[in-house]
Amino acid sequence: MLAIEADALRRTYTSRTGWLRPRRTETEAVRGVTFDVAPGELFGLLGPNGAGKTTTIKMLNTLLLPTSGTARVCGHDVARDPVAVRRRIGYVFGGDRGLYDRLSALDNLRYFAELYGVEARDQKRRIAELLDLVGLSGREQERVEGYSRGMRQRLHIARGLLHRPEVLFLDEPSIGVDPVAARDLRRTVADLAAGGTTVLLTTHYMAEADELCGRVAVIAGGRIRALGTPESLKARVGDRDVLEIEVYGVGEDVLDGVRRVPGVRGVAVEERGTAQALSVQTDRGAELHAPVLAALDGVRVGRVISREPSLEDAYIALVEGEDSPEPDHERAGEEAHDLTEMTA
Ligand SMILES: Nc1ncnc2c1ncn2[C@@H]1O[C@H](COP(=O)(O)OP(=O)(O)OP(=O)(O)O)[C@@H](O)[C@H]1O
Ligand SMILES: [Mg+2]
Repeated sequence: MLAIEADALRRTYTSRTGWLRPRRTETEAVRGVTFDVAPGELFGLLGPNGAGKTTTIKMLNTLLLPTSGTARVCGHDVARDPVAVRRRIGYVFGGDRGLYDRLSALDNLRYFAELYGVEARDQKRRIAELLDLVGLSGREQERVEGYSRGMRQRLHIARGLLHRPEVLFLDEPSIGVDPVAARDLRRTVADLAAGGTTVLLTTHYMAEADELCGRVAVIAGGRIRALGTPESLKARVGDRDVLEIEVYGVGEDVLDGVRRVPGVRGVAVEERGTAQALSVQTDRGAELHAPVLAALDGVRVGRVISREPSLEDAYIALVEGEDSPEPDHERAGEEAHDLTEMTA
């Protein structure tokens, strides 16, 4: 039996905007999302802000009803049998809410254990196990108000695991967490999956998805753009080279000029302090140093390096590349399956 089956899930939000003349606006947050997750798999939903990741998770953990489509978790339909689903899942949303600051970590876990119906005689052992798993043993007597972000996040994960869920949903586990704490968190998540828990996590961080996930669905604009192992996604940009160019103060018009250079397949910009890093994806072996630099005429240019494409480049190409036209939703599902089969 599959741990998660999402079939053509859609969700539209209706909200009112305006005060004098209220209008109803509809947002199609998720537009036909289909994927499966096997038991014990660590599966990632990777996508930019507003892609529909949280909405997808909320339909799977029964917090939101799908507008259409179906989903099953551990074989139970999320809409028809939400109670059975809730008994088998845990979820953790990134951020600060959901813990009692004035209580110690231990008291928080005792409280939630009670709430989740963990049997009294199991509570002590279970809590000790979890404190150990998330690396908070020895700090459990401290009040949560003195906890760092990373410690809070790990306590959230412990909370989500109290009732031994088969499936854990983690919405951006490492948001706002420093790189060292994020590495510890990733280790915790990997340990969980190694212990047999199915994990569905969302992230903006390509490196996180690459390191942790067996398979990744890249989602943007409410649709799955690609689905497969991190390697299979990288292979999609395998026929490219990347020029990384440090620039200072580059405008949209100049970027458009770079995009128009023949052989350039995509351009992404990342702010790096006072400088910006341009990643220019080019056809493999195209040797576009000269024309690309010519297109940057008048812009102060720093270091220029040529490198192999990374998962991040694949992600950028999938999310905004011109060679991934928005598939209609029926096709998006099929495409996802094709890739999975190729790499399974
Ligand atoms: N309660 C809501 N009412 C109206 N629109 C909403 C609501 N929640 C989300 N949306 C919209 O739905 C779309 C998808 O949002 P969602 O939160 O699922 O994205 P996300 O991938 O989780 O983004 P992020 O990475 O920023 O968390 C966005 O356009 C968002 O503005
Ligand atoms: Mg979100």
